[in-house]
This record gives sequence, structure tokens and C-alpha cells, in this order.
Amino acid sequence: MSPMPAPSPINEAPLRIEICKDAADLARHAAGLFVTLAGKALGSRRQFAVALAGGETPRRLYELLTQDHYAYQIVWPAVQVFWSDERCVPPSDTRSNYRMALDAMLSKVAIPEGNIHRMRGEDEPGAAAAACEKDLRARFDGAPRFDLVLLGLGADGHVASLFPGSALLDERERLVAATRDPEGLSRLTYTLPLINAARTVAILVSGEGKAEILRRVLAAEARDEGLPVQRVRPAAGQLVWLLDEAAASLLDPPAA
Ligand code: 6PG
Repeated sequence: MSPMPAPSPINEAPLRIEICKDAADLARHAAGLFVTLAGKALGSRRQFAVALAGGETPRRLYELLTQDHYAYQIVWPAVQVFWSDERCVPPSDTRSNYRMALDAMLSKVAIPEGNIHRMRGEDEPGAAAAACEKDLRARFDGAPRFDLVLLGLGADGHVASLFPGSALLDERERLVAATRDPEGLSRLTYTLPLINAARTVAILVSGEGKAEILRRVLAAEARDEGLPVQRVRPAAGQLVWLLDEAAASLLDPPAA
């Protein structure tokens, strides 16, 4: 009888780009990453702290994680869930990132309510950001560090609610801040010091609508354009890009 294959090692290269066939395949890769990192974090720290993102691409991941194949591999009582950004709307509002994750995943898995740490979009934005930061510092002994920060990518190069040209891109002190999106809606967002402190940051990008911004971001000659997403560089962690073929369609083929 042939021996069992060895489990594949966790790839911990500081930068990894995975190109998946389509949005469904991307969600499967992201779910695999989530399960792997959750298991690893539990082994060493007894909990898995993850910051969720808004957007359609992460939503597919959340839905997939509720399916038995994935849900049974995750020790939900050890998962602590946060958000990297939020719209300043009540939690019942369909534009709320908390609401989306609740509907797509959190209401369908065995996660204790006390492990869900939403941003209070219904409060005065400055006060809500300060309260969120205070809570994070208390939970992480002063130095918040996520096991996984999930991010989507806007067609303008924004991540979380860090938009091009925002003064928040240079923030060094605050970990959470209030801001406005280009339409003028107030938002709460993690800043780069908090995002870049993560052990793993995964940026999920799907669809041909993102092909042009990805080309700008990843093309070698455009590395220092200063777009928000280009400032995502985990200081002592891993950056994983999960793309689908449509999003990656304008990238140069890898050198032979
Ligand atoms: C949000 C995020 C935003 C989103 C991107 C990508 O709260 O919606 O601020 O950054 O993740 O716009 O969205 P899609 O995955 O839907 O393309």
C-alpha cells in the first residue's frame, strides 16, 4: 500500500499571487486560506482574529464558509470577528458590512455572539472610531495584530475605506478613523498601521472590472503610484493576492 501523501506545507512567502479560474474558484481558495490560517492560529494562540471586508467578492467567501465542508473544519468559538471598515449606517441597513457578513455567514455558523465585534456605524463617526480603537487595544494588550485581514479592491484602488488622496493614508498614530467615501457618506476604517501589522493580509479581486486597476497596481513599472492598495505591505507578515482570471486578464504573463 502506498503511504499517505504528506500534508502540503503552509506557503509563507511574504508575497503570493494566486490566479483562480473564476469567482467561485477564488472563493474556494480564500476559504482554504481561512481554514488553514484559523487552524494555525488556534495551535499557537488559542484564537483566530480575523478582520472581514465588505463587497461582493468577500461575500462569496462568507457564503462558502457556511457549507459543511468548511464550517466543520473551523473551531468557531475560537474565532474573533472584526471589520476593517464600515459605512456609518445602522446595523440593519443593507449597506452595512456587518449586516452583509451576518446574513451571509455569521448567522449560519456556531460563532458565539460575544465573538462578533462590529463597528458601531450608527454612532457619531469620530466617537465610534475612537471606541473601536480603544476596544482593539484592550483586546490585544495594546498592540492589535490580526491573524488575517481580508480586503477587497475598489476600481479606484481603495482598500477598506482608504480612498486615493485621503490624508488617512499617512496616518501613523490612529488605528481606526472616521472618513468619507467619494460620494460623501461617512465611513469608519482601519488605517494602514493596523492593516500592515497583520500576520496575513489577503486581497480578493474578481471580475474584468478590476483588470485595469490591477494592471496599474501590479505592473512592475507602476509600483510606486501611491494608490491605497499599494501601501498595503505587512511589516512582518504575508500579503496574499487572490485574483480570478478575469481580474488578472491584463497582467503580464509570468516570465518563463
Ligand atoms: C466596502 C469596501 C470596498 C470593497 C471593494 C471591492 O466596504 O465595500 O470598502 O473596499 O471591498 O469596493 O468590492 P467588490 O468585491 O464588490 O468588488
